[in-house]
Amino acid sequence: MKTAYGLLTGTEEERQRALKEAARILRAGGLVAFPTETVYGLGGDALSPAAAAKIYAAKGRPSDNPLIVHIARVEALQPLAAEIPDAVYRLAEAFWPGPLTMIVKKSERVPRETSGGLDTVAVRLPGDANARALIEAAGLPIAAPSANTSGRPSPTEARHVAEDLGGKIDMILDGGAVAVGLESTIVDLSGSVPTLLRPGAITVEMLEEVLGKVQLDPVLKKPLAPGMHPKAPGMKYRHYAPQAEMYLVDGAPEAVIRLVNKRAANAKERGERVGVLAASETAGAYCADAVFPLGQREKPEEIAHNLFAALREMDAQGVKLIYAEAFPESGVGLAIMNRMNKAAGHHWLHAGEESE
Ligand code: TXA
Ligand code: MG
Repeated sequence: MKTAYGLLTGTEEERQRALKEAARILRAGGLVAFPTETVYGLGGDALSPAAAAKIYAAKGRPSDNPLIVHIARVEALQPLAAEIPDAVYRLAEAFWPGPLTMIVKKSERVPRETSGGLDTVAVRLPGDANARALIEAAGLPIAAPSANTSGRPSPTEARHVAEDLGGKIDMILDGGAVAVGLESTIVDLSGSVPTLLRPGAITVEMLEEVLGKVQLDPVLKKPLAPGMHPKAPGMKYRHYAPQAEMYLVDGAPEAVIRLVNKRAANAKERGERVGVLAASETAGAYCADAVFPLGQREKPEEIAHNLFAALREMDAQGVKLIYAEAFPESGVGLAIMNRMNKAAGHHWLHAGEESE
């Protein structure tokens, strides 16, 4: 299949032409990758079982893993939901349009193919104006998982989408680099207690300001033990995984640098390439084949923005081992460490301990 390419960052005329063509493809049951403020999405008609099947095939994704349905205005939620608790409207008021996905009981209109066989549906009203313009132009709710091959880091630039899905989908819309860089926060409001299923840029602290107490899905922090089932089926897969073996390192900064440099020197002797992901403040202290400064420690939104591109860059550099500095888990840090833990398969090194 030839993948068409549409530019959203050129002239207004070019943008309108690209959005119009993309909307036509979506209405005809085709697939279009498009930017959102979180990551690029792979869009298809959310009401069409055939479009859902195409999405799963293009991503190589298991079809028990439900898709998020994107809408362009709050009123579009009602026909998709069987029941809308008041908390949904309160969160929508506070955070939509924006990087928040809410799970509610689904209506008959949402096919099982889109909801991965569940009787709930995940809905998001994205903050990105191009994403909303596309949904409006298509006149449909748009199912869109992240536009990566299943198991690879989510795409934060159009070229990442082309790497994974070029030749497999009808069109890629290029809106430049995304703003947030991590996938949306997912909160389940279909049960009696609001539950965080995936941390993101809308933090637990922000949700609790609106809702009071929010429960964390127990699988968020720990490696998945046999018999544990995350409520978001997608969270059970080893996601965001670079090809290299990755370790998270915590401890005092000097001890972390010492440990990583020692390990990197040993790896070099074995002829293995080593990559390091570090805060900008400490990146200069590492001796490795590829050192990627993620951003300043006091600016976790910078780190969130650069993380997935850094993981892809590590693959491109052909490193065998990645060492990544750990970051505090407050605010957006919870989402950063959730993705890093998944990328590293929960492998940790504690600098300054005898295990060094
Ligand atoms: O930021 C985002 O949310 C991006 C952009 C494109 O909007 N989309 C995204 O979709 O990250 P995806 O498919 O890569 O991740 C969706 C996650 C999966 O872990 C899936 O299992 C979960 O949401 N999910 C979807 N519907 C669900 C439901 N009804 N119940 C529980 N989890 C659900
Ligand atoms: Mg994904």
